[in-house]
Amino acid sequence: MIVLGIESSCDETAASIVQDGTIILSSVVASQIEVHHKYGGVVPELASRMHIEAITPVVDEAIHKAGITLEDIDGVAATRGPGLIGALLVGFCFAKSFAWARKLPFAGVNHLEAHIYSLFLMDKKPDFPFIALVVSGGHTNIYHVTSHDNFELLGQTRDDAAGEAFDKVSKMLGLGYPGGPIIEALAKTKSPEAISFPRTMLDKGSFDFSFSGLKSSVARYIHDHSITTDDEKAQVAASFQQAVIDVLSQKLINAALHKKCRRIGVTGGVSANQTFVNKLSGKAKDNRISIFAPPVALCGDNAAMIAARGYTMIQQGALCALDHDVFSRTRID
Ligand code: KG4
Ligand code: ZN
Repeated sequence: MIVLGIESSCDETAASIVQDGTIILSSVVASQIEVHHKYGGVVPELASRMHIEAITPVVDEAIHKAGITLEDIDGVAATRGPGLIGALLVGFCFAKSFAWARKLPFAGVNHLEAHIYSLFLMDKKPDFPFIALVVSGGHTNIYHVTSHDNFELLGQTRDDAAGEAFDKVSKMLGLGYPGGPIIEALAKTKSPEAISFPRTMLDKGSFDFSFSGLKSSVARYIHDHSITTDDEKAQVAASFQQAVIDVLSQKLINAALHKKCRRIGVTGGVSANQTFVNKLSGKAKDNRISIFAPPVALCGDNAAMIAARGYTMIQQGALCALDHDVFSRTRID
């Protein structure tokens, strides 16, 4: 079955053609980062307008690159939420119209579930059950995934998402948006032990996260030590990044041990951080746990993961009606 996937929940307009939920025939992502960069974050109204301009050429390109025709498409999937309402509406309505015009089944996909499905687009896929982390600019969620229908939410952030903390610390250091890749690159030049920032673990046995204390601690340090040179910024970046990585890694291992589960998959924009994946892999090895991490192109927002999740929904008959709407916030358990 060939599925056209469409993603437009934030600042990427993406379309992808995926076969049988696992083989990517094409994946096109038009990023708006350059436009939002100068505002230090995503401007929702601008995002919606840019999705409108990009959606048709991006879908055309995905079909062309896959080497297929419209007649070859068996189903359509688009992100239904969570995300920016104006942005979501562009991709969702385009996909709905496309499916209606061509009389195809249409799945409205949960963006967080879709991130988890990026794991099924890799050569080495996790078997059920597995622990999944969705860590991005808006979420830091740990799930116990036991089947295509069962995502048990074990923990989530009580304040900032990990990616949001990267973005805010980057802004404090005057380094730009998105902060994650900039901080990771800078951190490579310094020892992560230089500054001791807090690791907030919350209550014993909790899989929830809190990154606001760490963020405030970094802000105080920057203020008190008048951080200005590239060298000083790199030291803050390395020590901050290590604090985030330590907490994410420890909570994931704890969750896997708690569920007696030997597989962990990490997904979402922050999973592109190779320092994180390497550190987690080291810790996991000590506990005989396997780590599954998609390539960088599948960590950030993309439409291949939407098509992959949409494929299972279409197969199960979990379809969207024409009067179904998008949503901005949700949980997925
Ligand atoms: O999944 P994603 O592309 O979009 C959302 O759904 O939010 O994630 C974007 C987030 C941003 O906060 C960005 O700073 C972070 O992922 N990010 C990273 C890295 N690359 C992207 N964080 C840490 N290290 C990275 N290499
Ligand atoms: Zn995302």
